[in-house]
Amino acid sequence: ELRGVVALDGPSGTGKSSVARRLASTLGARYLDTGAMYRAITLAVLRAGVDLADPAEVTRVARAATLVQGTDPERSTTHLDGADVGVEIRGPEVTLAVSPVSAVAEVRALLVAEQRRVIATALDDAGGIVVEGRDIGTVVAPDAALKVYVTADAEARAARRAKQDAASGRASTLDATLADVQRRDAYDSTRAVSPLRAADDAVVLDTTSLDLAGVLAALLALVDEHG
Ligand code: C5P
Repeated sequence: ELRGVVALDGPSGTGKSSVARRLASTLGARYLDTGAMYRAITLAVLRAGVDLADPAEVTRVARAATLVQGTDPERSTTHLDGADVGVEIRGPEVTLAVSPVSAVAEVRALLVAEQRRVIATALDDAGGIVVEGRDIGTVVAPDAALKVYVTADAEARAARRAKQDAASGRASTLDATLADVQRRDAYDSTRAVSPLRAADDAVVLDTTSLDLAGVLAALLALVDEHG
């Protein structure tokens, strides 16, 4: 059983989401997908039709949105203004727009506050939570018992994303997916506010040559050691 927070950060397509969910299930812990929260705010911004390059407008939409991110690892749900947006936030429109929206400082401040609130509630209720994102170990939960920076070669990550897309019935090609993965990582790593990076005290886990079971086993061993 997990006590406290496990922070899982890293770029897209490392298998981090699937494994974070499994890890939480196995440990009887809650699970928080912070990427889903940035995606839901991005969907609100797209629906409002405001200019993505206008931080004041993006912030206004983010403040007005009501976002509820569930923490059940068996069925992670995202509700925006009362409606389930779990499918829509994975679509190409949101994926294309999410990095610029996530780079807005006020959007991050709003979501980090909400994430900390959800984490505190989960710790009270369940005792442990696996939190997945880009800035969990560095910003959201710097006191996490265990921080893992999950990484993999860009080609391996693109291949995984393409497979996920195919499994969910979304059309994609490997080239386009690789370009998207590289574009998003470059944007996320170089933004001024909370750029994607490993915390100084994070364990780096390279999943290039591991399957899901292998990544899960590695994480469970780390929880045993540090959790
Ligand atoms: O994890 P996922 O690919 O769903 O995240 C979508 C985007 O949300 C990332 O590319 C990044 O721009 C942003 N994000 C973030 N900080 C987090 C989680 C996600 O900036 N903690």
